[in-house]
Amino acid sequence: MEALKLLNARKAVRQYNGQLTDDQLQAILTAANEGPVGMGQYDNYRLTVIQDPQVLKQMTNIYDAPTVIVVSAKNPGPMENISVGAIVHNMELAAEDQGVGANYNMAGVSSVPKDVLPAGFTGVFALTLGQTDESFTARDVAKDRIKTNVVK
Ligand SMILES: Cc1cc2nc3c(=O)[nH]c(=O)nc-3n(C[C@H](O)[C@H](O)[C@H](O)COP(=O)(O)O)c2cc1C
Repeated sequence: MEALKLLNARKAVRQYNGQLTDDQLQAILTAANEGPVGMGQYDNYRLTVIQDPQVLKQMTNIYDAPTVIVVSAKNPGPMENISVGAIVHNMELAAEDQGVGANYNMAGVSSVPKDVLPAGFTGVFALTLGQTDESFTARDVAKDRIKTNVVK
């Protein structure tokens, strides 16, 4: 999909009906690596792909997603939180460009079992993912959903 069309068509998808293919997952992880992070310090971040049903069962507010990708950071402060948001946004766009349902998730992060995250990293933000029946077509998004003032 063209970039601007994708930005319009993307949406929060919270209903899933199947697991991702390996190719879909790889494209999503590639997009994460293509994201910007503060000061280019990529080693301060980790991606954890959770597909183990036993682990997913311990997590809350993830809408029965078959895949959750948690982005964690070393000592997260404002710069790390923003960088993690950019990584997650890249992954959401890559997922939905392939017709995969995805949604940003903060509510489930505190329920991620600590032993699945790398030592020294704190879970910041996650993406829930799965196949979906939803289609990604043009959305009528209010142009002033975010109020704007122009200084000139
Ligand atoms: C920082 C952030 C945290 C979010 N956390 C959650 C969440 O925990 N659970 C959820 O269902 N949606 C979550 N969302 C998705 C938003 O609710 C959704 O993007 C917003 O309502 C706009 O809808 P749209 O994405 O379809 O345009 C989050 C979005 C962002 C950017």
